[in-house]
Amino acid sequence: MTDTRDTQALMTVRDLVRWGASEFGRRGLSFGHGTDNALDEAFHLVLHQLHLSADLPTLYLESAVTASEREAVLNLLQQRIDTRKPAAYLIGEIQFCGMSFYVDERVLVPRSPIAEMIEARFEPWITGEPLQILDLCTGSGCIGIACADVFEDAEVDLAEIDGGALEVCRRNIARHDLATRVTAIQSDLFDALGGRRYDLIVSNPPYVPSAEWEALSTEFKREPKLALEAGEDGMDIVERILTEAPDFLAEDGLLVCEIGGSIDEFEARYPTIPVSWPEFTRGGDGVFVIARAELVSWLETR
Ligand SMILES: C[S@@+](CC[C@H](N)C(=O)[O-])C[C@H]1O[C@@H](n2cnc3c(N)ncnc32)[C@H](O)[C@@H]1O
Repeated sequence: MTDTRDTQALMTVRDLVRWGASEFGRRGLSFGHGTDNALDEAFHLVLHQLHLSADLPTLYLESAVTASEREAVLNLLQQRIDTRKPAAYLIGEIQFCGMSFYVDERVLVPRSPIAEMIEARFEPWITGEPLQILDLCTGSGCIGIACADVFEDAEVDLAEIDGGALEVCRRNIARHDLATRVTAIQSDLFDALGGRRYDLIVSNPPYVPSAEWEALSTEFKREPKLALEAGEDGMDIVERILTEAPDFLAEDGLLVCEIGGSIDEFEARYPTIPVSWPEFTRGGDGVFVIARAELVSWLETR
């Protein structure tokens, strides 16, 4: 617990950020859900609790806080330490592609590098306007909803197996007023999507090998296991996506799929698959792109 005699010495926004970062370090927290270090995490939580935006001019870091503000901030920082929940769950919100998404423990905290591809309208992989888009394994709906925001004429399906995640996803569709173009569908991968064809299928599926999942830090284990773990080499879901996607892609359709840190496992299982690996300027990797035609040829010779 926080010793109030100690924390009464904390006067300014900067003091609170510094204290939070020190405590996070002392208590061995881990990061990776929107920030990757203790200072940024503390900064994010302190500014949120003070209702200040992240682009606060540095001058205001020296502003004094009131006693009640200090208590509220310290409570939030302490919750982060005690629960080891990612900050986004404590706040109930995270930004993805410049849009705000509601999140709770029923969904993965959005952080896919696919955000960068969405913002670039998937160029150079796509040059036209995809009209039918599928976000497979949608979780919070972040990828599909951001696609709908970028491609204003597209109809977007969001497929997800878990009922709780779907509730979060529907809340985000409503938040962004997209119910006329974006549909959440409960489906085990493609199973409930019979007959549909998509110009673009985007997926951030579970891809963590079982042994790696076991070794994850508490913060990552706060996320649904169903969102992360996918069998011995992490490829259980990817295997199904690769084999079933051709039936759901338009003739000139494109599959974009994240496999994150499981590139070695992917290449070991699929040494000849002709995928491309986009590069990201904001960090992250492990997203492959493959056109339907290439996927079909590869599946025939596999
Ligand atoms: C890695 S999370 C990605 C969530 C979101 N797309 C994102 O990028 O933040 C994977 C999601 O796939 C869902 N999922 C797992 N197995 C599935 C399946 N067989 N069919 C559909 N969705 C599945 C999980 O419930 C989870 O919401």
